[in-house]
Amino acid sequence: MPSNPNTVTPTAESIRLDLKAMFADLQRGRLEVQPSKYWVELNRSDEAQLVAVGFENFKRTVAKHYFTWTQIWPWDSQLRFLMSHLPLTATCANIFRTFQPIKHQHMPISQSLAVNFLSQMIWDYALKTCPFLDKLAEPEIGNPPRVLRNGRLISQDLANSALEAQSILAGLPEKPGVKRVGELGAGYGRNAHVLLSLLPGVRYVVIDIPPALYVSQRYLSSVFPTRKVFNWRSFNSYAEIQAEFESADLAFLLPSQIEMLPDGCFDLFVNVSSLHEMRLEQIKYYFAQIRRLVRDQGWFYLKEWKVSHIPYENIVIREEEYPLAEWKILFEREAMVQTKFFEALLQRP
Ligand SMILES: C[S@@+](CC[C@H](N)C(=O)[O-])C[C@H]1O[C@@H](n2cnc3c(N)ncnc32)[C@H](O)[C@@H]1O
Repeated sequence: MPSNPNTVTPTAESIRLDLKAMFADLQRGRLEVQPSKYWVELNRSDEAQLVAVGFENFKRTVAKHYFTWTQIWPWDSQLRFLMSHLPLTATCANIFRTFQPIKHQHMPISQSLAVNFLSQMIWDYALKTCPFLDKLAEPEIGNPPRVLRNGRLISQDLANSALEAQSILAGLPEKPGVKRVGELGAGYGRNAHVLLSLLPGVRYVVIDIPPALYVSQRYLSSVFPTRKVFNWRSFNSYAEIQAEFESADLAFLLPSQIEMLPDGCFDLFVNVSSLHEMRLEQIKYYFAQIRRLVRDQGWFYLKEWKVSHIPYENIVIREEEYPLAEWKILFEREAMVQTKFFEALLQRP
């Protein structure tokens, strides 16, 4: 009998029931944490796909709504960045690799070729930039597309997470004393996988709405099967969960639960490609909570679109609207590869 129930493949019925419980508890939360109309729609289709195709294939379904690019044009900003930062020989070698395989079973040919070429190019750039990337491996859990380099599975997600980890770690002092990391809107947990691999002994708390919370909980518990997990559950006060939460290596919470967490409980907080899909009052609410939850002199790394258009609600959010000035800005700059994003490392004054 496996000790961790998250490592057993769930049935369609159990996925439905678990998600129903998470959504019901989320609805008890304040307006600011509720998903935008855009995410309500995405969640509906993600839930249907999880139920129909199974958790075991999530890297071919819901993960495509997180950070994987499957449609790119030759003039795409990512391609322009990569081609200008890699030698011509790398681009030529990657054009050759693009046709292996010509088509992934779950994608049309055009998307398969885009995923292959972009993954190979980002991989080369990340190898050059992140000295630790060679030691990391894309987990098989979730059945990722078979993009290989020298027989080894690679991915856009792993390369992008390595670049983000590199930005964070290079910005911290030599002995940063990071014991607990919080991440809002973690998707399936690609950043958590990399940071947990690079920072041994660190505890990680994922804060997200379902179905992403459900997926990351199962994924990270399976990728790190020996770690102690605080599975998501409904609770009414911190005292109810304190002992179990504080001793867990991995914990999973809804955003409607973070107000119950004590001040200063995180050393580092992360948000990638998530706040930019929220209304301004939500961004301000989360910024206030993150500032409360990060300890004095602790850090907050974020990476968002410089300009984002939120579908359905006709909202445009610009880089200058994020309340960064309430923090000490260690850097705020254009992101590597996806140059339409900015990234910033902030320190709590
Ligand atoms: C585009 S995905 C990015 C996921 C991940 N950070 C990555 O880069 O792979 C956006 C994430 O924000 C989460 N999200 C959307 N609305 C949210 C809300 N109101 N509160 C908290 N998280 C939310 C989604 O569930 C998802 O995990």
